[in-house]
Amino acid sequence: MSTVTASARREHRITVQSLAQRKERGDPFTMLTAYDFTFARIFDGAGIDLLLVGDSLGNVVQGHDTTLPVTLDEVLYHTRMVARGANRALVVADLPFGSYQVGPEDAVRSAIRCVKEAGAQAVKLEGGTTVASSIERIVRAQVPVMGHVGLTPQSVNAMGGYRVQGRGEAGRAQVLEDARAVQEAGAFAVVLEGIPADLGTEISAELCIPTIGIGAGPGCDGQVLVMHDMLGLGDSPPSFVKQYAPLGALAAEAAKAFAEEVENRKFPDSMHSYR
Ligand code: KIV
Repeated sequence: MSTVTASARREHRITVQSLAQRKERGDPFTMLTAYDFTFARIFDGAGIDLLLVGDSLGNVVQGHDTTLPVTLDEVLYHTRMVARGANRALVVADLPFGSYQVGPEDAVRSAIRCVKEAGAQAVKLEGGTTVASSIERIVRAQVPVMGHVGLTPQSVNAMGGYRVQGRGEAGRAQVLEDARAVQEAGAFAVVLEGIPADLGTEISAELCIPTIGIGAGPGCDGQVLVMHDMLGLGDSPPSFVKQYAPLGALAAEAAKAFAEEVENRKFPDSMHSYR
């Protein structure tokens, strides 16, 4: 692709309609998680198409073992920062555990807060057949919804751990049924997480809406990674993650160099002092 085409594309805000066109054209797209203004601006400038304010913030920002403690107010707080850093990317706020499970009215109230109070352009929620009525209700309120099926981290207790889903005939049928339910309910896209690659390909070929894979193989219409994993900022990322930069190691080296220079009275020197 020429530089001119790439920069022209960057001038236009990504929409749910433009993502549908990308699927029709067979043009893969990207989503990264972001939790603050600084990284939202970097990723937006780099041409990432969607920024997900994931409830993974419970793990990578807050240091919890699961995403379950994350509150809607915390998602709103992080979404505001990300929305301020995104000019082109579509900003998706992840509805946290407890903010939509009670029922469709609860779900639509939470979704509206994400748009109205935080500047999200869409929301994501986990589940298939069991949340279809909530997806329908949110879509009726004119808020675009992204589904999330397969390995759904908010179900960690029910699943008995973070396990690959969709294995075996019954497992495959369940994930397929969930993905169909999400599409039927009116979602504009669906995340496929932690499923065999051939199932990711099959679902992506069957659905009209774009699929976004994370540990779901190369056959999905788009791909998403958690920023801390792809930047080497976390411990022991899952095997499907590719690390694109060792930022954690670089940050540790920089911190050690700073400490050494301060301890040896090398910093600040005259170059870094006011006259
Ligand atoms: O919360 C999150 O970061 C997510 C992605 C893993 C898709 O849901």
